[in-house]
Amino acid sequence: MHDTCPFNPFVERIRIQEKIDAGEKTSALLSSLGDCKRKTPPLARTIIISTLKNQKKPVPEAFIEGIPKAELHIHIEGSLEPELMFEFARRNGLRLPFTSVDEVREAYEFADLQSFLQLYYQGVRVLVNERDFYDLTCAYLKKARSQNIRYSEMFFDPQAHTGRGIAFDTVIGGIHHAMLDAKQRLGISSKLVMCFLRDLSEESAIATLQQALPFKDWIVAVGLDSSEVGHPPEKFTKVFDKAREEGFLTVAHAGEEGPPEYVWQALDRLKVSRIDHGVRCIEDPDLTARLAADGIPLTVCPLSNVKLRVFESVEQHNLKQLLDHGLCVTINSDDPAYFGGYLTENFLAVQKALRLDRHDIYCLVRNSFQAAFLSPDEKQTFLDELDNYISQNQDK
Ligand code: ADE
Ligand code: ZN
Repeated sequence: MHDTCPFNPFVERIRIQEKIDAGEKTSALLSSLGDCKRKTPPLARTIIISTLKNQKKPVPEAFIEGIPKAELHIHIEGSLEPELMFEFARRNGLRLPFTSVDEVREAYEFADLQSFLQLYYQGVRVLVNERDFYDLTCAYLKKARSQNIRYSEMFFDPQAHTGRGIAFDTVIGGIHHAMLDAKQRLGISSKLVMCFLRDLSEESAIATLQQALPFKDWIVAVGLDSSEVGHPPEKFTKVFDKAREEGFLTVAHAGEEGPPEYVWQALDRLKVSRIDHGVRCIEDPDLTARLAADGIPLTVCPLSNVKLRVFESVEQHNLKQLLDHGLCVTINSDDPAYFGGYLTENFLAVQKALRLDRHDIYCLVRNSFQAAFLSPDEKQTFLDELDNYISQNQDK
């Protein structure tokens, strides 16, 4: 390979645009760049984006199913399917307040976040031994892999377990070993984000952070979840300061049910890298502008928002508006066992309801890899895989 490209990228851009307009295939255009493709990624991306924008064909489900994806907002405890709930209850000698799997699913009608959390905290009681956490995590990662999720950042709620006498290392040990095995056997990469329960005290969060320190290498970031309204982010300023001093990245649920003010606090007090949900930011134009200007990603969970009545229907969801405001929006499943779908189902629902085109889907998936807690090289590997998928699937 030569040290310098034998062509001028600016001239090349014009030549390529003419070919795109004439309907030439993405794969042919990309291969015409040859070795220079890696040196001129903006040009390769221009080709992909221009050809995607030129495509007026409907988006087939198979395109969404097959696209390599990342997930950045999934509570591992929220992936507990009723079948596993019964299995863990049986092997731990526990009684459930339900007689069948169908009865559990029928109970999944929620008025708001609080009514969901009651069932969620009831469900986690079946998780007792390290093997339960291991099996739960394996089941999610297997499902994720089947949906072509290449990378996942999973939340866990240690206080939901230590508060009922389960040791911190039982919880994290089971999850971590499942992550290692899934990487080796299934090729899916994952990282762990430890959440503090915001309806508990800051002292309890500090004690949890202390328990996590011996496992620092297994946790990439800390987050904030559970009942939002009445528990503003500023309540956790000290513990987030300590977490950052210890080298953790930070995220927080904000603007799911809570007001835009909670998003401001998450940014300015907790210094978060991403906002989980954040959909209510749209009520505050200055906040929306700040998120766009600073490129703060939002991990949006469409089916969750409908199930918890943040929006009446997927058609009413503001995801497209958020994208149109220039925000770095990503799509995620939140608590897939409770909300009627994993990541692919979330993509399919919004694509259909909001009539997203291939370019929108590409941007959403690309945003997830860009917003992930990965090194630039790791991101580039996934982004190349994504671009390769686009160029290979232009005719589908
Ligand atoms: N814990 C699990 N799912 C949650 C959600 N959607 N919001 C806040 N806390 C949660
Ligand atoms: Zn969540």
